[in-house]
Amino acid sequence: MAEWFSRFYDILMDPLERRGMREIREELVSRATGVVLEIGSGTGLNFPYYEHAEEVIAIEPNPQMRSRSMNRRRESRVPIQVMDSGAELLPFADNFFDTAVATLVFCTIPDPKRAFQEISRVCKPDAKVLLLEHVRLDHPVVGKIQDWVTPLWKRVCDGCELNRKTAEVLQQEGFKVIRRQTHCRGLFITLEAGNGKMV
Ligand SMILES: C[S@@+](CC[C@H](N)C(=O)[O-])C[C@H]1O[C@@H](n2cnc3c(N)ncnc32)[C@H](O)[C@@H]1O
Repeated sequence: MAEWFSRFYDILMDPLERRGMREIREELVSRATGVVLEIGSGTGLNFPYYEHAEEVIAIEPNPQMRSRSMNRRRESRVPIQVMDSGAELLPFADNFFDTAVATLVFCTIPDPKRAFQEISRVCKPDAKVLLLEHVRLDHPVVGKIQDWVTPLWKRVCDGCELNRKTAEVLQQEGFKVIRRQTHCRGLFITLEAGNGKMV
């Protein structure tokens, strides 16, 4: 990862956080219960919003991001551990977690299908998955602009792709969408989904 991205991540996010992203995070993350897996926790922007979780085990492959999340981890209302792992190979037993949370991560994960398969494996059959992602719009012009901008954006922003169709991939991997909300004219979505796997 470009070191500048982790160094300036919170500063870059601040205008968006002030314009409503905090409330979206709070509403989503406060729904996490039981033993929670957070995927790609970055600088820990979600950590203040865990209220009902028993404990949170967060994975984050980038050491600078992990280290920047430590103050928020310490100030959290619930116990949080942050581990070094990517989402495509999770170091956990099957059927371990009650909730999985991922925010602004599936735009960057190199193999999102594999990551969803792993989340399904480590989550209980009745677990919920809470997602906040930016996605490709169906709009004929804006969607094309997202496609054109993505190669440059991806190089500058640590692998982030603006034109992912994360909700579709989630459903292809067997998750059942229970609740879907759109934000900023559909550029961002929040989803609550059930793990579709059999007991
Ligand atoms: C845009 S940041 C989002 C951070 C945080 N979730 C948030 O909402 O602010 C994307 C994060 O995904 C992490 N990431 C990249 N590849 C990943 C992977 N394969 N598995 C898990 N996390 C990954 C990055 O290191 C980075 O911290």
